[in-house]
Amino acid sequence: MGQQKKLMRALAGEAQDVPPIWMMRQAGRYLPEYRATRAEAGDFLSLCYNSELAAEVTLQPIRRYGFDAAILFADILLIPDALGADLWFVTGEGPRLSTIGTEDDFAKLKGAADIHDHLAPVYETLRILSRELPDETALIGFAGAPWTVATYMIAGRGTPDQGPAHALKGMNRTLFEAVMERLTEATIEYLLAQIEAGAETVKIFDSWAGSLKGADFEDFAVAPARRIIAALKAKHPDVPIIAFPREAGEGYIGFAKATGADCVALDNSVSPEWAAEHVQVDSCVQGNLASSHMVTGGDALVEETRRIVNAFAGGPHIFNLGHGITPDADPENVQLMIDTVRGS
Ligand code: CP3
Repeated sequence: MGQQKKLMRALAGEAQDVPPIWMMRQAGRYLPEYRATRAEAGDFLSLCYNSELAAEVTLQPIRRYGFDAAILFADILLIPDALGADLWFVTGEGPRLSTIGTEDDFAKLKGAADIHDHLAPVYETLRILSRELPDETALIGFAGAPWTVATYMIAGRGTPDQGPAHALKGMNRTLFEAVMERLTEATIEYLLAQIEAGAETVKIFDSWAGSLKGADFEDFAVAPARRIIAALKAKHPDVPIIAFPREAGEGYIGFAKATGADCVALDNSVSPEWAAEHVQVDSCVQGNLASSHMVTGGDALVEETRRIVNAFAGGPHIFNLGHGITPDADPENVQLMIDTVRGS
């Protein structure tokens, strides 16, 4: 059955006249039905841990738009939460966590294999979705990459330049590497459990990969992805993996080969023509329309969508944005993008 789904066919390396399409943050605040369910849940984290409601918001954009894939509704910061860090979200500002700056902070964390009780509601969300999704819709699981999750755990919040994580890496390399090791192991545990609960493919979000330069990019973006992917493939060789080393630039070249990923997701700082020549030659690619078009719409949206479809038409491609859709997006622009991709 997997082979019939457009998304799975692209991940298997097939070029299609009309690429499959889904959107990062497709269940989100730009949709009135999402805002209503989130209000019902109380707050964002309660929504993530309420399997019925998390499945409901995952299904909302599928019902409204008929995307080719549904992405599990959860967050990359559930891993630190499951490891015992404190986590909360400040409305209008973003996540806050207890920080990791010393060996004592690190010693309080749980072991990687001890995350599953806490994350059981996420696995239940996937089981519900496996039953309820339309036959043609693929189910995507995900996790944050160790570096990106570490940047939040070390700083206790999002940071423009990931300064605190870079500082710890420079000042206490042993502690930094211990954090990375724990996150790598926990991510393997988490993604294996997601696959066993019904995820047909998984995506690894390295949103801050772009701030790793030179040897750091190899050590903390490429190497952890390679280890995670090897561990998943050892148990589930047929489950394809999407890697998103956001803003990697030249680092996108060879990333699939170096890590074993089946698909590389592209942000919109690289041109589709460049990426077709340098990245799509090795693997399926996903992307990469600027999410600002979902706010501004119009002819520019249509032209840029067509340009991306055409640039990637020669090989396997999954149409997506270059980053998550923003709360100020107009739901009608999403429909315009889909109609343009599907040529209707
Ligand atoms: O894509 C999807 O629809 C699936 C669900 C999903 C969410 N977050 C839901 C969410 C996924 C895949 C993520 C990934 C995620 N979370 C990343 C990596 C991708 C990226 O955006 O770079 C990161 C860095 C996070 C951490 C995070 N979660 C931040 C920094 C924030 C606050 C910023 C914001 O957009 O408000 C969140 C909150 C969050 N995660 C929301 C959603 C729908 C908004 C929360 C709300 O409803 O108030």
